[in-house]
Amino acid sequence: MTKVALTLTINGQRHEVLTEPHRTLLDVLRTDLGLTGTKENCLEAECGVCTVLLDGRAVNACILLAAQCQGRPVLTIEGLGATASSTRSSRHSSIMVRCSAVTASRL
Ligand code: FES
Repeated sequence: MTKVALTLTINGQRHEVLTEPHRTLLDVLRTDLGLTGTKENCLEAECGVCTVLLDGRAVNACILLAAQCQGRPVLTIEGLGATASSTRSSRHSSIMVRCSAVTASRL
């Protein structure tokens, strides 16, 4: 079968993928890119476990062709986790500063 070369931007990183044109974004994410945080279940847009953000909007990756995502930013749970982690890390640092200030004043 003829394959198409796609450039996908997933979680801010560009990926070159050579794939069949009928493959879904979910399949490419999980199989080709190893991003298994996006889950697979009903495969008919009913359960929502495959939700990713495409152009900032929630979409079901199980019914979306990977080819439709060319040149458009995709954010998966892994990307959201990285964002949340850096936010949590800076908040944690702030808490640590406050905690050490309290500890120092009590000593
Ligand atoms: S796998 Fe259920 S909505 Fe996509």
